[in-house]
Amino acid sequence: MESSVLAELNAEIGRGYDRIAYDPVLDASLDLERLLGLSVLFGGTPPRDPDVLDFGSGTGSLLERLATQTQGRLTGVDISAQACERAAARCRPFGSRVNVLCRDFLALDPDTLGQFDVACHIGVLYVLPPALRAEVLRLLGRCLKPGGALVISYYTGAFHAARAALHRSVREAVSPGEAGIPAARAHIEAMAQALPPAGPLRDMLLAVMRTTQELPDTVFFHEVLNGRFDTLETAQLDSALSPFGVGFAGWLDPLAQPPGSTPRERAVAADALDYAAARYRHAVFVRMDAGARPDVARPAWRSCCVAAAPSAEGRRYQLRGQDVHLTVHQPRAAAVLDALAQGPLPWESIVAAWGHGAPESALRAGLESLWRGGAIAPLWPRQG
Ligand SMILES: C[S@@+](CC[C@H](N)C(=O)[O-])C[C@H]1O[C@@H](n2cnc3c(N)ncnc32)[C@H](O)[C@@H]1O
Repeated sequence: MESSVLAELNAEIGRGYDRIAYDPVLDASLDLERLLGLSVLFGGTPPRDPDVLDFGSGTGSLLERLATQTQGRLTGVDISAQACERAAARCRPFGSRVNVLCRDFLALDPDTLGQFDVACHIGVLYVLPPALRAEVLRLLGRCLKPGGALVISYYTGAFHAARAALHRSVREAVSPGEAGIPAARAHIEAMAQALPPAGPLRDMLLAVMRTTQELPDTVFFHEVLNGRFDTLETAQLDSALSPFGVGFAGWLDPLAQPPGSTPRERAVAADALDYAAARYRHAVFVRMDAGARPDVARPAWRSCCVAAAPSAEGRRYQLRGQDVHLTVHQPRAAAVLDALAQGPLPWESIVAAWGHGAPESALRAGLESLWRGGAIAPLWPRQG
């Protein structure tokens, strides 16, 4: 696609965000201590007050939240003038530490953008025109400092791929713009009515359509009518970032982590795990040595379990917010999990909870498997 055509398409998408603001309410899931916890596990080296880039900063809710977590410099970039105005107003209390640039990603010069310890690209890559994605990944790869961390969110797997196909077919059938929302919803309803009366295909497609119909109008507009909507593959992103020495570490979401001893192996495993599922992922990439093994002694840790009960085989835990249970047979590992239930702990306290007289290698292996199983998650032990 010619760059002038792409620039006009980007501007049109930006005007869509001017008219219908996307303004999420944030929780702790993107907090620096979580993101940087995963990065230090893989050898990331954040300074005490990291500089942060929010690429596609929208109305500034993430900039505002992160500005309370670092005394570093924060830069937001977004094409929507309205969104940038709101972001700048929201971040005014932080003075010149926060800078919001109203630009098309396509028009950015990587040499003047600067270098960052943390880059966030949340809710953006999968709604961009595909021709822009490679350029955005190049910019993100180039702007990360050594030891820096990048988080990208995207949909994965067959279920959301079916939603992407649905959105494409709706986009072709109804007029663009927010006036098209009722027609788009009616179009999906008509497709549902036309499904075969029974069978597994019907159930799956109805679930696909229901998921899109249940979106609030704001999100529905941006995912169905304004620009694109695609699923992405973790291995694709890892390949695009690897020329910059940036590799996939793992998922920020405290769920079972993909196995593998290199970024490439982990990314391919991530895709294999995700194909059959419906996920919205927050993947963390770190500018690191590709062979970096997770070192469980570097971060602090928090529990992701909600309940524990004794059972014949050991202690039973439930992963928070999930219908997933795990049984821990090793009493020392259970002691660590129980200690973490009281609050996050640094490595030294975990060693103490584990108890003396057993090899540290067993603790390291046990902690890594609790993390891989989604029972615990790393936290950044900010120092200095
Ligand atoms: C779904 S919103 C997400 C905003 C924010 N990250 C959040 O999570 O609230 C996508 C954002 O990407 C911005 N965007 C889309 N295309 C862009 C482009 N070509 N250059 C810069 N920003 C763009 C939009 O203006 C919009 O604010």
